Amino acid sequence: MQDTIHKKWWKEKVVYQLYPRSFKDANGDGIGDLKGIIEKLDYIQNLGIDVVWLNPVYESPNDDMGYDISDYRSIMKEFGSMDDFEMLVKGLHDRGIKIIMDLVVNHTSDEHRWFKESRKSKDNPYRNYYHWWDAEKGKPPYRWSIFDKESNAWKYDAATNSYYFHIFSEKQPDLNWENPEVRYEVYDMMKFWLDKGIDGFRMDVIACISKDTTFPQMPSNMPVGEWFPYYAQGPHLHEYLQEMNREVFSKYDCMNVGEMSFITTENALLFVDEDRQELQTFYHFDNTGDGVSNENFMYADDSNWDLVSWKNIFYKWDQVFETKGWGTIYLGNHDMSRMVSRFGNDSEKYRSISAKMLHTFILSMRATPYIYYGDEIGMTNTNHTNIENYQDLYTINYYNGLKQKGEDHEGFLKSHAKISRDNARTPMQWDHQTQAGFSNVKPWLAVNANYKDINVAEQECNPNSVLHYFRKMVGLRKSNETLIYGKFDLVDSTNEQLFAFTRRLGNEMLLVVLNFSDSPAVLITTIPFSNSTILISNIEHPQIDHSFKPYAAVIYKIYNK
Ligand code: GLC
Ligand code: CA
Repeated sequence: MQDTIHKKWWKEKVVYQLYPRSFKDANGDGIGDLKGIIEKLDYIQNLGIDVVWLNPVYESPNDDMGYDISDYRSIMKEFGSMDDFEMLVKGLHDRGIKIIMDLVVNHTSDEHRWFKESRKSKDNPYRNYYHWWDAEKGKPPYRWSIFDKESNAWKYDAATNSYYFHIFSEKQPDLNWENPEVRYEVYDMMKFWLDKGIDGFRMDVIACISKDTTFPQMPSNMPVGEWFPYYAQGPHLHEYLQEMNREVFSKYDCMNVGEMSFITTENALLFVDEDRQELQTFYHFDNTGDGVSNENFMYADDSNWDLVSWKNIFYKWDQVFETKGWGTIYLGNHDMSRMVSRFGNDSEKYRSISAKMLHTFILSMRATPYIYYGDEIGMTNTNHTNIENYQDLYTINYYNGLKQKGEDHEGFLKSHAKISRDNARTPMQWDHQTQAGFSNVKPWLAVNANYKDINVAEQECNPNSVLHYFRKMVGLRKSNETLIYGKFDLVDSTNEQLFAFTRRLGNEMLLVVLNFSDSPAVLITTIPFSNSTILISNIEHPQIDHSFKPYAAVIYKIYNK
């Protein structure tokens, strides 16, 4: 019995991540907008989800699709107005759905007023809002940048003969969190939105807000895994998060989830142990590197996939939160390729069944589940190998960088196509009409060519669709406390095809069996499941003689254990 887990509303919610640019275009300019989301509120409600996480909708020049904010307190014009936003919040709340927004405060846009001031002169009141390196001291010690054309996180700025620091693109200068004025500006801004009635934040690259700001020389050939103090998890991180909690979170009944780079199972509880008053939850990246090359994560690597170690990572993380803290679970977001293409099988034969299997997984783990828009209908990767089809600076800048150096840029794109972020940012596929019912003009990013086969309208009519299954699975999770709080244990943990586990609470024991492969697989266990009640399954007769069909997913209810 899990007496030790404290029940909290935010542990019991199912979160739906919505990428506003690609959800629904209401005014016919090819860009999704808030009015478009409002048009689809009934659809969102019918999914059965409890919380919407909205990717950034703040004013932004869109160098990194809204993750470069030029005004934290206004809505991006392309998305609509503050009135639209308030209407959206009301529409969601009227339907019993909460809304969390992206909090992007490691950096601003270079077009933010603070930065425009900061770069003017060395004695500008905003100078200390950012990290500057005086060129009179010589060149700053090299730092790698993830989106920079030259992979250099320092950008020279002639106006003051200085360099500024940007982990992301040169249009995303890092804020200087050592400066209390910056921190209190951020807390005020958070309160501004919470006072409007939003229900919390998803905290972008939050581990990066504290880093070694003396910017020492990094040892050469240092493995990426050891880079953290130079970029993230710096000496003041806990101090800042506790301050933020004290100043903001503690004053509202809200939820939060931090995007946490370089987190380990050893330091995890320092962030989410309730007694420490920092965060409620965060998400790590340990399970999402699979399928990506270890040497250079811009490239795909199919061989880097091993179900047994993947299961162990989930197990290890579940153990961390056995009595304290709480986890999150996701298999897709706007920074990854599509879930079904990456972890399932997007061939015509298995697409639908494997998408259902993955939903069974996400919604039966002990952690708050996050589902990314479009995954509820099994949307797939686009796998474009022509740079013209890309909008994401991450892909474009790296490609151009290689091209400039005379390196294999086409080879890069062939590999990267499988994991590019634009795979998962294509317009929502509503129906089989032009532009998949997303817009009546050419959208900002092309619709996936398969929209006639995969779309909401078709799946609404088809009781066997991924959409119907998804709703049923959400309903099951919400009506079954064992799926939320029950103890998690692996079953047949060395099975290379099956991910099987039990969930136990009180007298109830559930057995979840998921076949992650395209061939039948036998479950080795003493748990007598064959004649048990099936709570849900994605296929009729999922198993015969302990052998599970390809991509089968089933949850059994086992009594008296
Ligand atoms: C986070 C966001 C990503 C963005 C980056 C910089 O990782 O999820 O989309 O590009 O931060 O803000
Ligand atoms: Ca629009």
